[in-house]
Amino acid sequence: MKYVIGIDLGTSAVKTILVDRKGQICAVVSKSYPLIHEQTGYSEQDPEEWVQQTTRALKELISSSNIKPEDIEGISYSGQMHGLVLLDESYNLLRNSILWNDTRTTEQCNYLYKVIGEKRLLEITKNQALEGFTLPKLLWVKEREPEIFEKTAVFMLPKDYLRFKMTGCIHSEYSDAAGTLLLNISKKKWDEELCELVGVSISLCPPLVESSECIGNVNEEFSQKTGLTTSTKVFAGGADNACGAIGAGILSPGETLCSIGTSGVVLSYEERSDRDFNGKVHYFNHGKENAFYTMGVTLSAGHSLNWFKENFAENDTFEELLADLKNVPIGSNGLLFTPYLVGERTPHADATIRGSFIGMDASHKKSDFTRAVVEGITFSLNESIEIFREYGKEITSIVSIGGGAKNEQWLQIQADIFNAKIIKLSTEQGPALGAAMLASYGCGWYNSLEKCANAFITSSKIYYPNQASVKVYKQLYALYKEVYNQTKELSKELNQFNKR
Ligand code: XUL
Repeated sequence: MKYVIGIDLGTSAVKTILVDRKGQICAVVSKSYPLIHEQTGYSEQDPEEWVQQTTRALKELISSSNIKPEDIEGISYSGQMHGLVLLDESYNLLRNSILWNDTRTTEQCNYLYKVIGEKRLLEITKNQALEGFTLPKLLWVKEREPEIFEKTAVFMLPKDYLRFKMTGCIHSEYSDAAGTLLLNISKKKWDEELCELVGVSISLCPPLVESSECIGNVNEEFSQKTGLTTSTKVFAGGADNACGAIGAGILSPGETLCSIGTSGVVLSYEERSDRDFNGKVHYFNHGKENAFYTMGVTLSAGHSLNWFKENFAENDTFEELLADLKNVPIGSNGLLFTPYLVGERTPHADATIRGSFIGMDASHKKSDFTRAVVEGITFSLNESIEIFREYGKEITSIVSIGGGAKNEQWLQIQADIFNAKIIKLSTEQGPALGAAMLASYGCGWYNSLEKCANAFITSSKIYYPNQASVKVYKQLYALYKEVYNQTKELSKELNQFNKR
């Protein structure tokens, strides 16, 4: 039997999976690494930790699976998007990576609008200037750490750095490059006009390839450290959201994904690069050649539930915490939560908004708060679905993956709030499976990603919206949407008292 490996370089951990030709998952190994928050709004990671933990994970994956390393034909990647990695001319790291959930760059986003203009930026990149994207981070370094910027020979995205350490080859691929704000997404080229206007040399941008392109082989050094052989081919891979979509079979028009991880996204397949959503949702290149997707992002989705559990339900497991969902009625007995723990992206690109519980009274218990958190996350994702529908997309069926797909009640809440059929997959490996599929397709096991999806992905259950619940949620959703407007200014005022 032959195998491929999918590596998902996430925000809290790296997950590696070994998959055979039929799509069976033969082994899974994950290793975590810390986030570095030096100041409020800052979020960084040490790229060397990604490499070390991936090395350990791959070594364990191979030794625990009892297969011959020469039977591993290919490897590919999925990666957390937007993170800025800077290398000098000897390809040494210049600083920690500034991550997608870092919000220090509001000034740089405003500067981008000033020098380029909102309209032109949207024409070229199809996206708004958001704090999380890569270019504002590069401009922040240019301004605040000029000695580092001076030494920069190339910038990379997280999984591209990992791939560089495994192969010695430097590349970027379209699905991740789309999230830098430096790519002309329809021309599939780094944009010279943009680079010139903001004073960033285009030579800092790495060469571009397709997600399924073979860029080389595992190098000698990495092979010795992990037990992989140098005959294993390495394929470029994709952004975690593109790979999440591939791994859930979102490969043709009309298909939509809801993925609840640290962040939450609602993502919809696009055939063309020129639909107009007026920048209200992100518009990125897919990991499938010449395809695209549009996407709305809730910055603190799973992160909100994690925060709640860590601070207020430390001794519960997630299963125990979520088991209470069924004991609380729709609307959490009048308690509403907005998940703006680190600001928000869609539909409010606002780094200073903060979360709230509205409607607390003395009768509320932990179970009401838990349900309010889950409903709040789902309402926030519904705001992205609402934008898609306003711009003419028909969304009647959604594949749900991630933490939100692990609990029956939460799946039903999604069906009722989204007013759409929710599909749960049988063996869900998220973006890691998408990465493995890019390697399988790249190795020539299937002649299209769609054929690979047919072989690898099956659905296990469908959750249908209950029309009575849909009606109640519509009323609650109208109230939920009001909370942003009512707390926007308050959040700004309160920020000055945050001494962290
Ligand atoms: C997408 C985004 C997040 C990260 C999470 O724009 O910022 O979904 O990709 O890894």
